[in-house]
Amino acid sequence: KLHLATFVSNRPLSKRAEGGRVIVEVDDKVAKVRNIKVDSRLDSSWESREKTVAFSFDYCYWSVDPEDPKYASQEMVFQDLGTSVLSGAFRGYNICLFAYGQTGSGKTYTMMGTPASIGLTPRICEVLSEFNFPFFLFLFSFLEIYNERVRDLLKQSDKTKPYTLRVREHPETGPYVQGLTQHLVTDYKQVVKLLEEGIAKRITAATHIHNASSRSHAVFTIHYTQAILENNLPSEIASKINLVDLAGSERADPSYCKDRITEGANINKSLVTLGIVISTLAQNSQMFSSCQSITSITSEAESGRGDNPPSGSSSGRRPAYIPYRDSILTWLLKDSLGGNSKTIMIATISPASSSYNETMSTLRYAANAKNIINKPRVNEDANVKLIRELREEIDRLKAMLMSFELRNSSPSWSDDRDGNLTELVLQNEMKVCMIYLML
Ligand SMILES: Nc1ncnc2c1ncn2[C@@H]1O[C@H](COP(=O)(O)OP(=O)(O)OP(=O)(O)O)[C@@H](O)[C@H]1O
Ligand SMILES: [Mg+2]
Repeated sequence: KLHLATFVSNRPLSKRAEGGRVIVEVDDKVAKVRNIKVDSRLDSSWESREKTVAFSFDYCYWSVDPEDPKYASQEMVFQDLGTSVLSGAFRGYNICLFAYGQTGSGKTYTMMGTPASIGLTPRICEVLSEFNFPFFLFLFSFLEIYNERVRDLLKQSDKTKPYTLRVREHPETGPYVQGLTQHLVTDYKQVVKLLEEGIAKRITAATHIHNASSRSHAVFTIHYTQAILENNLPSEIASKINLVDLAGSERADPSYCKDRITEGANINKSLVTLGIVISTLAQNSQMFSSCQSITSITSEAESGRGDNPPSGSSSGRRPAYIPYRDSILTWLLKDSLGGNSKTIMIATISPASSSYNETMSTLRYAANAKNIINKPRVNEDANVKLIRELREEIDRLKAMLMSFELRNSSPSWSDDRDGNLTELVLQNEMKVCMIYLML
């Protein structure tokens, strides 16, 4: 079981542009927001309960003023979140890290950074590229979703029809983008070059908050494979890392960007669906855990009486349908949201009172996401899996043989059933040998 880790980052207050006073405070793992609707006096204390709303997360960062002793640098954020992404990837888990928050609150800054202040994605790539070929394979792709269409950010595309890629679903490996270019990298310089190329191609627009606002959702995917020896057998540890920088969450608000109706509506679709997916997953996870505790309470209560559990003991509620396929973003991130992935959500907020509504909605969103329980598992190499299964089968057959022999006082190899079992054991042992020889 894994809860989504969540954290809050605050970007420096840009002078005047955002207006108002600071209404957010970070205290260890708790973010407190002053309720400006209740609090009208400037001198009221932070401690007053009804005047502040507190949200607790796995990590909270304060990056408003670099002079502040509490200031969290990109390096500190990497030490916490980047290293957990890396350790998960090294162990063979799928990982997803995504940044959510209003425009100008620091999503792109946190995920990508600036040349002077490098963000999470290049830092993660730097460590991964230090472990080089031939034992490690490091492939990456970079795409953007704009108006519900997908574009490869690392390919020279036809200017008239740049958004042409389709999302498909593989029965085993899940959703993928057909025709997306995969880039093999062997050193960090190549990563930086490709990242810069992709970032330059991404759609941005000037908004009233800042003039490099991301209008699209960017998904940077790393396929990371390590070649290892397991039981003297060459095998692989594979991991998929999704690093996602979303467009501003205000785009889910219908009143935003009325002049750009299509853009608003479509970005809206991905973000609105993301909201629905997150809240439905959270509800389902809560239902699942409360069902489990109801069952354990019932069985404890009943064990004393020795009764059989009543037949209708489960609540009868079914998990709600998750509309992953309603938007491109949620479809592509299907596995990262409530599936086989360790997922970290980064919620970025502005500390200004003028952002009160957006800040509250972002924090509520993140608090809700914390309730989701994912089911990550280590990606097993197909050959190793096959051999493990064959060995288990051999053990099972050998145990059956043994029990036949024990039951039979005079074991004879001519016995039909016995002979068949021996045959099966031999066949499976041959298969294991063949796999070893083929590799
Ligand atoms: N923690 C920080 N320290 C210093 N500068 C920051 C910080 N966070 C953000 N900034 C700066 O604030 C501006 C806006 O940040 P950014 O582009 O990351 O916002 P965003 O959340 O991606 O917005 P949008 O949704 O519009 O894309 C940028 O110039 C960025 O460099
Ligand atoms: Mg951005």
